[in-house]
Amino acid sequence: MNAQQLMDTAKALVADDKGLLAMDESTPTCNKRFARLGIPQTEEARRAYRELIVTTPGLGESISGVILYDETIRQKKEDGTPFLKVITDAGIIPGIKVDTGAKALAGHHGEKVTEGLDGLRGRLAEYSQMGARFAKWRAVIAVGDGIPSRGCIEANAHALARYAALCQEAGVVPVVEPEVLMDGEHTLERCREVTEQVLRVVFNQLYTQRVMLEGMILKPNMVLPGLTCAQHEDVEEVAIGEQQYQVRLTCRQQEDVNEVADATVRCLLQAVPAAVPGIAFLSGGQPNELASARLNAMNVRFASRLPWALAFSFARAIQQPALEIWQGQQANVSSAQKALCHRARCNRAARRGEYTPAMEVEVGPEQHHAAQASH
Ligand code: 13P
Repeated sequence: MNAQQLMDTAKALVADDKGLLAMDESTPTCNKRFARLGIPQTEEARRAYRELIVTTPGLGESISGVILYDETIRQKKEDGTPFLKVITDAGIIPGIKVDTGAKALAGHHGEKVTEGLDGLRGRLAEYSQMGARFAKWRAVIAVGDGIPSRGCIEANAHALARYAALCQEAGVVPVVEPEVLMDGEHTLERCREVTEQVLRVVFNQLYTQRVMLEGMILKPNMVLPGLTCAQHEDVEEVAIGEQQYQVRLTCRQQEDVNEVADATVRCLLQAVPAAVPGIAFLSGGQPNELASARLNAMNVRFASRLPWALAFSFARAIQQPALEIWQGQQANVSSAQKALCHRARCNRAARRGEYTPAMEVEVGPEQHHAAQASH
């Protein structure tokens, strides 16, 4: 392990207000997204879509690194140029998803553990030789009645730490992704509590497995209420002087941008050591524009007081409008690339605290329509 090289790569991934583009959907996930839009689910269609992404003019102005999938890292442009060459020529660092997916966790109904440790040392050696300089492993934590269990959190945290240690041994920066899912009725407060608990266990395991924190990136969820969190009223007792008063509090389904920013940063401050150079959020199915606005609010309110950079590592919140415009048609490639570049630019602006909703109307009506449709 070359510690300096790991630290340099980790820093470069969050330098210059840029962020990561996750384009590492597994074949089944990519096919599912294509099917929804009537795009053929073939290897050639997946290759053509990924060619669209990596050849987007100006992508490197906002994107520091892209996360590829095993199929994609081996693919080439139609003219025969390997994607890896296109990416590095654009000044973008190539990365690779190395987990093999979340599978049912035995004895834990409704919970999953991410697999992929067997043979990982060999796979990392191959990817690193090909040119990948960082990797990703995603653990998923569901929130619900009686879950997450300690068993699920510990199994996933242990796997994340073993993966991270193997990456560093291979000179590859691990992106450590424990995702607390947005599905469910839970409140923002419950998400904060679970996210903090998960992060504490993950960092304990990273310490136990001797992972160098300066040479990794954390990829967490933002702290958000569950997608079906009901609007409800709470009654709280408040004392003013000798008198007790009952106060009715309304919990809104759509917490405002500042509340999300505050809850997320408060949670991270409790659980993420200052030695970690960067935190790059996943988007998790949030509407594109809200993901940018929330990241922006965090940077506006807290950036100058935080030990780590707050960046992005979005898949859907960058790609979705482009995919909807493309529809599998060559004629739509250029408009789709503009939409992709636009979302990447909005998120770079959010890192600087300079994103405004007005940026959204600077794009053509076509892109704006797609951005709206994806909400
Ligand atoms: P989303 O931004 O679509 O959540 O994807 C991020 C990711 O890489 C999931 O592993």
